[in-house]
Amino acid sequence: MSVGVKVFAPASVANLACGYDILGLAIDGPGDEIIAKQVDKAGVVISKISGAKGKLPYEVEKNTAGTAAKKLLEFLGEDKFGIDIEIHKRMPFGSGLGSSAASACAAVMAVNEVLKRPLTRRELLPFAVLGEQVADGAYHADNVAPSLMGGIIFIRSNKELDVHRVPVPKGLYVSVIYPHVKVLTKDSRGILGDMLKLDQHIEQSGNLGGLILGLYNSNFDLIGRSLRDVIIEPQRAQLIPGFFQVQEAALKAGALGCSISGAGPSIFALSANNLIAENIGVAMQKVFQDLKIKSDLFVSEINQTGTYLL
Ligand code: HSE
Repeated sequence: MSVGVKVFAPASVANLACGYDILGLAIDGPGDEIIAKQVDKAGVVISKISGAKGKLPYEVEKNTAGTAAKKLLEFLGEDKFGIDIEIHKRMPFGSGLGSSAASACAAVMAVNEVLKRPLTRRELLPFAVLGEQVADGAYHADNVAPSLMGGIIFIRSNKELDVHRVPVPKGLYVSVIYPHVKVLTKDSRGILGDMLKLDQHIEQSGNLGGLILGLYNSNFDLIGRSLRDVIIEPQRAQLIPGFFQVQEAALKAGALGCSISGAGPSIFALSANNLIAENIGVAMQKVFQDLKIKSDLFVSEINQTGTYLL
């Protein structure tokens, strides 16, 4: 067995209110670590998983990291040796913080490093998306792309993986609260209706355009007015006890906007500086305390690094 490589991929916040499946950002702090080693036997094997309380599968095809690694290895036509991976979760999973995406991103970068970097970071993206697809059955890059590439990422097309980096205004902070309630991404996607009213489409498109423009121009007022979700949030809010109270508390504490992080149950708020972000975090956590729901708080700048070799 070779010495191996160790890779870290950060957690991420998907959707950003008005960009369901097409917008996401990476955060500092929580994430997943993968150790990959070359082994004699062809194929991928998962030899160790920690931090998952026994809840993640060792079967490669059922595991986001395992599948991402396998797809990449197959694409590269590597059959003379195999890869052994260890997954160390340093973040909650099933939280709406892109935990399966982080595993998939760390896995593809680790395999690429073991193979002496045949692909660029950007070229690794489709394999990580295929890995993450194992988690909820859908092919979307709004967690994977920011986790792999860092920053705020806009996806014009998930099918074509036409992804674009959006500038991060100086001072932009994110506060994320993870309440310890169970929300499965599959269920959270399953409850969504597939019909829209034309006026909802118009409002959501206006907000999406406004948010992108606001980020380009560091226009915090415009960002704030645009961080609204008139389509997904009203349908998913029922899955998160106290959601509207948390949102109100965050806005009162100075948030530019506040909505569900990915498929939930985490809730995120953006703000214009660190101090406001800390205050928002305290206000959001207080709501869950009053509801007697345990929660974890993460306050972070936008992570600009993405997945990296440790
Ligand atoms: N955009 C996805 C969703 C992210 O909201 O369902 C979670 O996979």
